[in-house]
Amino acid sequence: MLIEIRAADDRLRGPKAVDAAPILTSAYKAAVDSPVDLSRLRLICDYIQYRHNFRDAVELRRVGSWNIEPDTAGSEGESWEVAIDLRRARPELIDTVVKQALSEDGACERLALEGWGAGSRSLIWGFNSLYWKALSLWEQSTGKGYESALPGGESDARNVEAAHELIQRLFSLWDDLAARRALPEELYVLELGVGNGNQARVFLDELRRLDRERGRGYYRRLHYLMGDYSPHVLELARKAVAHHGEHISSLALDALRPTETLGFLRYKAFLVYISNVYDNLPTDEIVRIGGHLFQVETRAVLSQADADALAASVNAASHELPDLIARLLRLGPELLAEVEQEHFPNTSDAVAFWRKAWEGLRLEERYVPLVELDTYVVAPEVGGELLRPIVEANGDVRMHISNGAAASFADTLPLLHPHGVLLCHDLFVTDIHQYLNGFRGPGKYDGSVVNWVNGRLLGAIGSRRGFDVSFAPFAYRAGANVMTMTARARD
Ligand SMILES: C[S@@+](CC[C@H](N)C(=O)[O-])C[C@H]1O[C@@H](n2cnc3c(N)ncnc32)[C@H](O)[C@@H]1O
Repeated sequence: MLIEIRAADDRLRGPKAVDAAPILTSAYKAAVDSPVDLSRLRLICDYIQYRHNFRDAVELRRVGSWNIEPDTAGSEGESWEVAIDLRRARPELIDTVVKQALSEDGACERLALEGWGAGSRSLIWGFNSLYWKALSLWEQSTGKGYESALPGGESDARNVEAAHELIQRLFSLWDDLAARRALPEELYVLELGVGNGNQARVFLDELRRLDRERGRGYYRRLHYLMGDYSPHVLELARKAVAHHGEHISSLALDALRPTETLGFLRYKAFLVYISNVYDNLPTDEIVRIGGHLFQVETRAVLSQADADALAASVNAASHELPDLIARLLRLGPELLAEVEQEHFPNTSDAVAFWRKAWEGLRLEERYVPLVELDTYVVAPEVGGELLRPIVEANGDVRMHISNGAAASFADTLPLLHPHGVLLCHDLFVTDIHQYLNGFRGPGKYDGSVVNWVNGRLLGAIGSRRGFDVSFAPFAYRAGANVMTMTARARD
């Protein structure tokens, strides 16, 4: 039996420490008393810092045998992983839960809302995009703005000091190019994933102020492009920067494929700014166990108790929930209320249903052998072989692949002017060791998903394409987990 604890030092000792010993003892005893082959059992303990997340305090995962076809369930050679959240597990309950999970009947019943598949294809991403598309309905219903769920309670994107420094650097680049008569007439800045437009407002206000002070006329030549996939969010952002009307354009686009909409911008953007977006894009995870690689497959589920309560709240039977939830994600709450009057007399009923479904949502996981890493596709034009040195350099590890961030990053680099910079504030893992001493997602931020981003992979993608990619702690908020990633073409 293997027991692994993946928690930060200050969760295991010192004033913030969790009392892990009774939890471990209890889990160990329950495992020893169970009928499972202990040589095929792993007890993995995380400290899940996200108060809302997709796991119960104890979860069971099947680890497929590495030598057989992935779908041959129940075959010889498979093993098990019991995942324990040290923050929520109670020693007096763990014995029962672990025993139940490892008993012949298996874990308690849950209602599956989808089939098994790669994490990046889970319906949690449908919930995530619905959140941004119907943000006003969600915020009305909770009475909270989305920024309150971000690290630090507000977006670092609106930090004036950070914007000021960034613009100073941009001005000195433009001054240099102007001195060499190499500065184009049109000065393009692109922001992806604009949220409520606060960053855009701070940036544009500050740029105009500094330009007035210096009298270079850059503001007059500036085009600030705001891209987002939520029309609602774009409308909010447009209002926030309405006073810069002639200098802004808003574009509905998928951040995973910016060149599809922004082909005209190729080699022209002096700055691409992205904050708190990469951690909100779909991702797969892989696990290395005993040197073998597995893909984490997931499926969204509700506990039977939550499913029964949710179904009863909308006058439905629980077996109707997968279909009702699929319709909610496709149509949104307003339209759903129109077409499903018997279940949702008003939009607010559909929003309440959405919130309850989201709250109860859990992800079951299983590990499926990933036999050919080279045939795994991280993102369009980013092959799995790029992962090999990252995943193999550090022994056994479970890590995010950050497929959405990888796709977005690789497809944004071609938009940069040869002297342009891509700047990204986000939660990055920059040393794979960080996966061994902390939980990196997924967590729930209000109605959206958060996963830390595999910075090592983005570094490798940039490097292959001739870009230097560097990471530094976000300099303008003490104790922040947020990092600043900078990518620019190699000289
Ligand atoms: C957490 S908010 C960040 C907003 C803002 N940048 C900030 O830091 O406050 C994430 C933003 O990314 C947008 N977004 C998420 N996935 C996207 C995608 N695939 N394409 C375009 N926009 C996306 C959301 O609509 C939302 O505006």
